[in-house]
Amino acid sequence: MNPRMSDRTTELPIFLDIATEAALAGGAVLQSYWGKLDEIEEKGRPGDLVTDADRASEVAILEVLRRHFGDRDILTEESGRLGDTDSPYLWAIDPLDGTTNYAHQYPCFAVSIGLLIDGVPEVGVIFDPFRPELFRAATGLGATRNRLPIRVSTTPTLDKSLLVTGFAYDRTTQPDNNYAEFAYLTHLTHGVRRAGAASLDLAYVACGRLDGYWERGLSPWDMAAGVAIVREAGGCVTAYDRTPLAIESGRILATNGRIHNELSHRLLQVKPKDWVRISELDQ
Ligand code: IPD
Ligand code: CA
Ligand code: CA
Repeated sequence: MNPRMSDRTTELPIFLDIATEAALAGGAVLQSYWGKLDEIEEKGRPGDLVTDADRASEVAILEVLRRHFGDRDILTEESGRLGDTDSPYLWAIDPLDGTTNYAHQYPCFAVSIGLLIDGVPEVGVIFDPFRPELFRAATGLGATRNRLPIRVSTTPTLDKSLLVTGFAYDRTTQPDNNYAEFAYLTHLTHGVRRAGAASLDLAYVACGRLDGYWERGLSPWDMAAGVAIVREAGGCVTAYDRTPLAIESGRILATNGRIHNELSHRLLQVKPKDWVRISELDQ
């Protein structure tokens, strides 16, 4: 075994446990603020909300990570990049994924903590404190839900699949807003859900509740944990065109593997001329 592999075998279970401790701490904060929000603000783009629960969850998560690693290798949604930018390690943290749902008391949200090593998601923990469900994985260690192994679905074809997607906060000004893809895939499948928490979308693909997921306009903290979990559950994660996932691109295609080529093919069929510009209806 090369020395690098042996390091990984030792360090990944430790990282997974620390990420779990941090996710549970963030989840406890989200439970305590549920239905009691004082502050709901827009961060800039219309509909892009931040609440006192997002901030308090992030404080609780950072307290755990700093205790173990100091103030380094961290990227969070609310604080940005902290510490050493040359490090091969990067913790990508969303303290509350599904803020819009949370602010409206729609119970679909989670804490998402992923660890990228040399840009590759290797560890993921997603905690939904409402159900409660804890999804975990690390490369080579398998994927679990509440500590029991999970696998992606065996749905063989797109026409028998249930999919999920989402729409980024630039959707009202960006013609490439995923509306046309949503309509087209709704037509071709058993349905396309829009649940409002990217991390749970990926966790649900990993445990077989959904067969595939695609989205554009995401940030690394939305997907890092979920990518590690889907891959360890036997799924396939790439760019839309099946080239390797580029996490900074914000685009992801994650499936059970069996419908991957078909879904990729259909997504690439949607051309700019098909974009739906709802804003033009107002004119
Ligand atoms: C959002 C959710 C949503 C997705 C958006 C994300 P936030 O994250 O994951 O499902 O469609 O693109 O920004 O703002 O609730 O952390
Ligand atoms: Ca998010
Ligand atoms: Ca968030």
